[in-house]
Amino acid sequence: MKAVIYTKSGDLDGLKIQDAPTPTPNDDQVLIRVKACALNVLEFTHFTNKDKQPSLFSKLTDKMTGVLGHPLGGEVAGIVERIGADVKGLKAGDEVFGVTPGSFPIGGLAEYAVLDKNNVALKPANLSFAQAASATLMFETALGALRKAKVKSGDQVLIYGASGGVGQYTVQIAKAMGAEVTGVCSTRNIELAKEMGCTQVIDYRTKDFRKTDARFDAVLAVNGSVDINDFLKMLKPNGVLIPVGQHYTKAIFRAPFNKHIATYAQPMAPQKDYLQVATKLANAGKLAPHIDHVWPASEAKQAFEYALTQHVQGKIVIATDFSE
Ligand SMILES: NC(=O)c1ccc[n+]([C@@H]2O[C@H](COP(=O)([O-])OP(=O)(O)OC[C@H]3O[C@@H](n4cnc5c(N)ncnc54)[C@H](OP(=O)(O)O)[C@@H]3O)[C@@H](O)[C@H]2O)c1
Repeated sequence: MKAVIYTKSGDLDGLKIQDAPTPTPNDDQVLIRVKACALNVLEFTHFTNKDKQPSLFSKLTDKMTGVLGHPLGGEVAGIVERIGADVKGLKAGDEVFGVTPGSFPIGGLAEYAVLDKNNVALKPANLSFAQAASATLMFETALGALRKAKVKSGDQVLIYGASGGVGQYTVQIAKAMGAEVTGVCSTRNIELAKEMGCTQVIDYRTKDFRKTDARFDAVLAVNGSVDINDFLKMLKPNGVLIPVGQHYTKAIFRAPFNKHIATYAQPMAPQKDYLQVATKLANAGKLAPHIDHVWPASEAKQAFEYALTQHVQGKIVIATDFSE
């Protein structure tokens, strides 16, 4: 099969389309023909060093996952080719979405990939392959963070960084939970944030969010860099701050001593029901993944370069048909 192989640690020029062995599913896996692979931070963080040298993250994950010489990519959608003996409820020809195996999922930027039976589900009919691929791992992060915050109907929720991969799902899921969502984003994303479900939007380029009088049951800090104490000042007396991206490490140390801080990180084994929740919301018309751009596999390098700008609107996706 063809695949975008990660041939050189930390170097975008090392992303090469090459022949690779088609993976073989075990009894608990399905083999899919990948139609779309969405990029996320676990993949593009490999390339954050400007001098093409591997970052510490890259060195560590290359070693842990053995990804060097294999395709990156975890968030996929495609068509089932073959199922393992112990997989129930799926058959060849089914359109599915899910996440490739492992704590740092790899193997998705390829014509074929295997998915563990716990991390694959039928693709919602009203989502494209690109949308479905993008509503997997970052959707899981958003769902986990909102559950950790115990968001419930009627809550006031602030989402700082409402327009990126995690941000858009945090907004949409919070809205579906019945919360009233205030999003923070830049001017060009105001309409997008409203479409996602924000009832109020604060443009971080023109307004200081700290100047609002509103106080929140939950603040989810996704993108940007605001002092953690400023976020804490925005909470209601029983409110909670979940640093998803910003201040995540700081929060790990402060959370044991501050009941207003909680952390959520993608668990090594994702929550069992995240694909089912995504499906339920999509079927109810409450999940509309926004795709900024779909690149052909031959332009994987450009896709990663764009991801590294940190100004993606929603998600970016690579189409894995390898025909271009
Ligand atoms: N805890 C976990 O388990 C976990 C899991 C996954 C990801 N993460 C973290 O979550 C964060 C978000 O990931 P992601 O994939 O959503 O990133 P992303 O898609 O690259 O985020 C891009 C978005 O960030 C917005 N942004 C950039 N600077 C901003 C600022 N100063 N203020 C507000 N928004 C800003 C951009 O909007 P503008 O163009 O409008 O600025 C853009 O829409 C990352 O830090 C990632 O490491 C954590």
